[in-house]
Amino acid sequence: MELQLYKRKLNLPYNSLIYEYLIDCHFQNLKEDAKYKDAYYNFLVSDKKFFDFFDTLYEQFYQQSVKIFGQLTLMPDNRRSCWIQVSNKYDIGGKQLIHNHIQSSIINGVYYFCVPEKNTGKIVFCDRYENIISKYQPSENTLLIFPNYLNHYPEVCDSELFRIAINMEILCEEDVWMTKTY
Ligand SMILES: [Fe+2]
Repeated sequence: MELQLYKRKLNLPYNSLIYEYLIDCHFQNLKEDAKYKDAYYNFLVSDKKFFDFFDTLYEQFYQQSVKIFGQLTLMPDNRRSCWIQVSNKYDIGGKQLIHNHIQSSIINGVYYFCVPEKNTGKIVFCDRYENIISKYQPSENTLLIFPNYLNHYPEVCDSELFRIAINMEILCEEDVWMTKTY
C-alpha cells in the first residue's frame, strides 16, 4: 500500500509567547487531569488569546487540503479546532497509543510547531494490522496531511526540550481518499 501522506512547509513564524502559553496549558492540564492520567493525551486550545494564530493555521490546513483534493463540502459538525500535544523525554504527554481518526474526520493534519532535535519524536505510520509501514521525522513549520484511516503514533521525543504538535481534522462530505489513485 502506498502511503498517502502530504508534506507542506507553512509560513507561520515561530512565536515564543505561544510556545510559553502552550507549555503552561500543558502543565495546567496535567495538574487537573492527574487523577485521569492514563486517559490524558492532548488538549484543545480553548483560550481566545492567540485565536488569530490558530485560526490562520487551521485555514492553511484547509486551503492546502483544497489544493490537494479539490473543493470540500464541510459537514455541519466540522470543528475548526486545534488539539495540542506537548512532550519531551520526561513527559511523554500521555499514552502514545496507536490510533486513527476514522470516527471523527476525513482528513487529518498535524502541524509541527516546535521540534527541538533532529532524529527523535518521529511519527510512525502503521497498516491495519498495526505493522509499521513508515516513519517520518518532523521538522518545524511542517504540516502533514494524511487519511483518517491511517494508524499512527508519535515516538517519544528524546529531548529535554519540548516537542509541540498541533492536530487538526476536517470532516467533509467528499470521500477524498477513495478518489485518489494509488
Ligand atoms: Fe493522531
